[in-house]
Amino acid sequence: MSKPADSPGAHYDRISVAYDLIADPAEHRARDLGLRLLNAARGERLLEIGPGTGRAFARIAESAGMSGIACGLDLSRGMLDLSRHQVAHCLGPAHLQQGDGRSLPYRAASFDAVFLSFTLELFEAPDVDLILREIRRVLRPQGRVTIVCLTDIPESGLVAVAYAWLHRHFPHLIDCRPINVLRFLDRGHYRIVTNESVRIWLLPVTVLLAEPLPSPKA
Ligand SMILES: C[S@@+](CC[C@H](N)C(=O)[O-])C[C@H]1O[C@@H](n2cnc3c(N)ncnc32)[C@H](O)[C@@H]1O
Repeated sequence: MSKPADSPGAHYDRISVAYDLIADPAEHRARDLGLRLLNAARGERLLEIGPGTGRAFARIAESAGMSGIACGLDLSRGMLDLSRHQVAHCLGPAHLQQGDGRSLPYRAASFDAVFLSFTLELFEAPDVDLILREIRRVLRPQGRVTIVCLTDIPESGLVAVAYAWLHRHFPHLIDCRPINVLRFLDRGHYRIVTNESVRIWLLPVTVLLAEPLPSPKA
């Protein structure tokens, strides 16, 4: 008999409770820098894709305040439960829902800003393009996106090569790999506003703020 397929997000459901213990000590510095670049303000409509345990999401919801709105979309129910716990005491409206970042369940031009940390590098190249297109669609014309992700640039060196090798051979253990996010953004018609870099696990992490350029003519 064939094994039933995992539900979407099952991998993150399994690791959700331990996630902060494993990842947060290394990742929080880059995420904090991302939040500084995002510079979320009162009254803004904000979206986080893949909020995970909700550490950044709670701060995004606080920044949006009562007059704004924070939406979080994650594939994993386990992660969403933890995020809900984080925002339980936030004053402003915070909406968390299960869904796939490749097909955002939001109307066009409905957000001032979108935030992703350690999420874009989970996707295969065509899906990274797809997500960036979806982000363009849901952002207002003057909107912005902040991305924090492991980066594959020439200076990344052997660690990045080893990381990519592990991802190729043991994708169930290492589900992401460093990506050249600048190239994806260029292809997706975004303008880089700020681009900073920090290192975690010897790897460069890009922390950037970008805005969509006007749509190319069809
Ligand atoms: C590596 S974790 C990062 C979590 C959080 N952003 C952080 O910095 O700690 C990636 C998150 O993306 C979510 N995710 C994975 N695939 C997704 C998809 N297709 N759509 C939306 N969320 C997804 C996972 O469930 C998980 O919560």
